[in-house]
Amino acid sequence: MSDITIKIKDREGVVHEVLAPTDMAMNLMEVCKAYELPVEGTCGGMAMCASCQCYVLSDHTLPEMGQDEDLMLAEAFYVEDNSRLGCQIPITPELDGLEIELAPES
Ligand code: FES
Repeated sequence: MSDITIKIKDREGVVHEVLAPTDMAMNLMEVCKAYELPVEGTCGGMAMCASCQCYVLSDHTLPEMGQDEDLMLAEAFYVEDNSRLGCQIPITPELDGLEIELAPES
């Protein structure tokens, strides 16, 4: 199996259940964009814009936050304890069933 299911709640509260490939080196921000969800990804996934910020709703173990992500989230708006940058989360089989919510646009 190379696709996993991810539930993404958009800013209107609508939940989108999407399939994401684990074998295409995609990250969560790119998956959102691929499904035309309103995620800008302005910096192209460099952890430099926070437009891909999302809240992690399920209790999946995610890759640890790198320094760049940590610093960016320290400056971003609407940051919560469960905030992550989607572009810093690679799509892996372990993330099957992940549930996230898009953070408000800043
Ligand atoms: S796309 Fe810019 S921080 Fe993720």
